[in-house]
Amino acid sequence: MSHAEDTGSRRDFLYVATASAGAVATGAAVWPLINQMNPSADVQALASIEVDVADMEVGTQLTVKWRGKPVFIRRRTAGEIEAGRAVNLDDLADNTSQNLNLDSEADGSDQNRTLDEAGEWLVMLGVCTHLGCVPLGGASGDFGGWFCPCHGSHYDTAGRIRKGPAPLNLLVPQTAFLSDTVIKLG
Ligand code: FES
Repeated sequence: MSHAEDTGSRRDFLYVATASAGAVATGAAVWPLINQMNPSADVQALASIEVDVADMEVGTQLTVKWRGKPVFIRRRTAGEIEAGRAVNLDDLADNTSQNLNLDSEADGSDQNRTLDEAGEWLVMLGVCTHLGCVPLGGASGDFGGWFCPCHGSHYDTAGRIRKGPAPLNLLVPQTAFLSDTVIKLG
């Protein structure tokens, strides 16, 4: 892919989703509208995209579309990291990392979910593992992470399913930091 195409695809894909608690309620409603403005199927099928996260503040989430699906990029607060790491793994409904960057045997610890060792960056598909709705972010639900209003699934600050009908943690796709501020998906 040429540099020009790469830059263009990134611009087209990016939009800021829930940046504050006040914006959370609009998350689910906004998605279909944004969806219609997205690039054609051939562009959506791009194997990988690069996302510049330099402007993301702690406690915000960016949603990008990748391979036709929403991907949540959350820069977690210290409280969210602490809460995620304090969870007893025996309490997890799905004690697997669901992280395509790790061995399939890896457990569901908070450290196994995040992109960096400090645990600040969490990247995962914004697709509920029950029937595929897009969960609401912005520290929502009973566990301060994501909440899927379709049938009431609650995900914690590491995107792990904690309550409700969804069977699995939100999937962490192939992800890597290309630099301090650029994340590559795929
Ligand atoms: S699709 Fe999310 S709870 Fe059913």
